[in-house]
Amino acid sequence: MEGLTRRKVKELLKLAPGQKVLAKGWVRTKRGNKNVAFIALNDGSTINNIQIVADVAKFEEELLKRITTGACIAVTGDLVESMGSGQAVEIQADAIRIYGEADPNTYPLQKKGHTLEFLRTIAHLRPRTNTFGAVLRIRHAMAFAIHKYFNDKGFVYLHTPIITASDCEGAGDMFQVTTLDMNNLPRTENGDIDYSQDFFGRHTSLTVSGQLEGELGAMALGEIYTFGPTFRAENSNTPRHLAEFWMIEPEMAFYEIGDNMDLAEDFIKYLVRYALDNCTDDLKFLNDMFDKELIGRLESVVNTEFVRLTYTEGIRILEASGEKFEFPVSWGVDLQSEHERYLVERHFRKPVIMTDYPKDIKAFYMKQNDDGKTVRGMDVLFPKIGEIIGGSEREASLEKLEARIDELGMSHETLEWYLDTRRFGAAPHSGFGLGFERLLLFVTGMGNIRDVIPFPRTPKSAEF
Ligand code: 4AD
Ligand code: MG
Repeated sequence: MEGLTRRKVKELLKLAPGQKVLAKGWVRTKRGNKNVAFIALNDGSTINNIQIVADVAKFEEELLKRITTGACIAVTGDLVESMGSGQAVEIQADAIRIYGEADPNTYPLQKKGHTLEFLRTIAHLRPRTNTFGAVLRIRHAMAFAIHKYFNDKGFVYLHTPIITASDCEGAGDMFQVTTLDMNNLPRTENGDIDYSQDFFGRHTSLTVSGQLEGELGAMALGEIYTFGPTFRAENSNTPRHLAEFWMIEPEMAFYEIGDNMDLAEDFIKYLVRYALDNCTDDLKFLNDMFDKELIGRLESVVNTEFVRLTYTEGIRILEASGEKFEFPVSWGVDLQSEHERYLVERHFRKPVIMTDYPKDIKAFYMKQNDDGKTVRGMDVLFPKIGEIIGGSEREASLEKLEARIDELGMSHETLEWYLDTRRFGAAPHSGFGLGFERLLLFVTGMGNIRDVIPFPRTPKSAEF
């Protein structure tokens, strides 16, 4: 095997036949007869396998026996034109080396199709399946495309903190971060926990959103985005919620709500187009295996203008629908996924950007409309997913923002640094957050958010 450089399977499948090659990877299947063994080898570089053809007479019987599904091997041989259908080239093996065996009696991934639920229990082998290989390559491609999109537009990637003392969404579902001894908590005179003795000298949590810090960035650099993990301790056991998920949050000075909507629509279409252009084999696999309408749905989103409508108009449509919803609708209620999906999947049959929500169901920082009742928030609603993006124009007036903070009984103290952006050189600005895994649910067609992240974190589940 000396003297040859290892070629990835993706590369091998495109090489011209008639040369010596070295391939390394994991055995997907082995079949054959007395004379010849056919090994399908995959190394994660592509959904496709390279076929290895081994003349039984050339190899020790013992060696061939140890090459079973899941084993890791290195192969040298001639790349030749394939006689079989399904591949242009294959490797006629001269030498095979086994790196790691996989005992067929205990190896959990046998040839039969496994359920997605079962695969979640074997996180170390899950990525070796076709399905997760495809999902994880698409996940990578989308992360790359996100950075490319913003870089090409001149946005600055801002790293916002993971540990924070403020609650951006005000929903209170944060994971506490502490080094205090749980069995011996320090107390203040009136019996409260004394956080001044904690690591940061105050109460801290894992961030639910990088937005507030992102706004500071936008008020200096103009256009920024964050892309990092966010954490929510909400006890939502649904196919669309994770306790740890990744979010992309652009924040732009001088953008009003209309500009914000234009950016959100252009951004999502760019990402879906990128997947269609660059993840063709993986998407085709997912389309054939799980969801025959996947590619059609992706193409239709790229070519459709999103509907824009106000919350008030949306409520009117839902009320007039005659539909019996589990959660009844009336002006003022927070929309449930069933309502969002009715609008997107049944009424309009395309993505919807909904704006101008009642202020009481949205966060404190949203720009207040003149009607005194609504705020300039926007949610992008998608087929199969419901809410994929949440955002708003931000309240730029210090006076109005402080009044809202008081109204909600929030503490000014932990937000003084944020309020400084309204004190010194305030500007109209807007931003939004795209849930990375929600985007991946849409792009891959997977039905459960646990299946688009390598190591899902959900209530009562944090193994691996
Ligand atoms: O609507 P959300 O809560 O908005 C914010 O956090 C704003 N600070 C964003 C901003 O304006 N910069 O969350 C934004 C998106 C949602 O639309 C959804 O896609 C995703 O984050 N998301 C979740 N994804 C997975 N699991 C969860 N528990 C999620 N909660 C929100
Ligand atoms: Mg939201």
